[in-house]
Amino acid sequence: MSLETLARPDDEAYGRLLAEVERRYGILIPPERDAAVRQSLDDSCSTLGLSDVATMVERLVVNDVHAVDHVIRAATVNHTGFLREPAAFEVILDEVIPTLEPHRDVRIWSAAASTGEEIYTLAMLAAERVGMDELDRRWHFLGTDIDSEAVGAAEAGVYTQERLDALPERVRRAYFRPATRGQYVIHDRIRALCTFRRLNLLARPLPFRHPFDVVLCRNVLYYFAEARQRAVLESLYRATANRGWLLVGASDAIEHLGTSWIRRSPIAYRRSML
Ligand SMILES: C[S@@+](CC[C@H](N)C(=O)[O-])C[C@H]1O[C@@H](n2cnc3c(N)ncnc32)[C@H](O)[C@@H]1O
Repeated sequence: MSLETLARPDDEAYGRLLAEVERRYGILIPPERDAAVRQSLDDSCSTLGLSDVATMVERLVVNDVHAVDHVIRAATVNHTGFLREPAAFEVILDEVIPTLEPHRDVRIWSAAASTGEEIYTLAMLAAERVGMDELDRRWHFLGTDIDSEAVGAAEAGVYTQERLDALPERVRRAYFRPATRGQYVIHDRIRALCTFRRLNLLARPLPFRHPFDVVLCRNVLYYFAEARQRAVLESLYRATANRGWLLVGASDAIEHLGTSWIRRSPIAYRRSML
């Protein structure tokens, strides 16, 4: 018998953790990631001063925000970046912006915003396209994520030089200033346009008063089972303005799910055209 097939004392607790993570956050952890997730959970237990995975599960079910952050980070890869998958930003600049009604507020939501690069990219590119004064007048950018530490990092808006490398030189110069330890901080005017909140995509109803013109839901759906993906997409549909847009990630195939969204391209969808 190999070492991997030996039962571990915390197997039962790990099984409960998988079930809670799926039920609460929709995230399915595939068996091939078990070893890495268990290692990461062991590290998290040491960091948080918890004796074992069973104690971690207890913290999870009472919504202890630190435990939730650690578990989410063990279960997902919160990889992101400025200008990641540029085709989505091209759709917004070239197809969405020309269809927006003049003088009406514009609301854009990054629904799994991680550390903020996605929504800041959009705010910077929109500033380049329509001008900062126009953004100040009527554009609102929201980034939400379940991981509160990621939300805190997004709010701080401080990034290393390497993270900025994906951006054109002009954009780097215009929208960042040097901070301490070789890092860069997002320009105050861009920062002021962006709001960040902790939000579980499974929350019902979603807590918004105004519908969004554009929703980005990229590189998160693939963590969810198909029924959950469908439910999340329908919930985003309800949160979107008539004729509003949804952008998904390049590896988030959603066409086969048969949702209310109307397909414009593999990454771009639209709410009813009525
Ligand atoms: C791979 S990152 C994607 C970041 C960004 N959208 C992009 O494409 O670069 C996935 C993010 O989804 C978040 N996430 C996972 N489950 C979530 C849930 N149930 N509700 C909200 N965010 C969730 C994770 O915390 C992580 O930051």
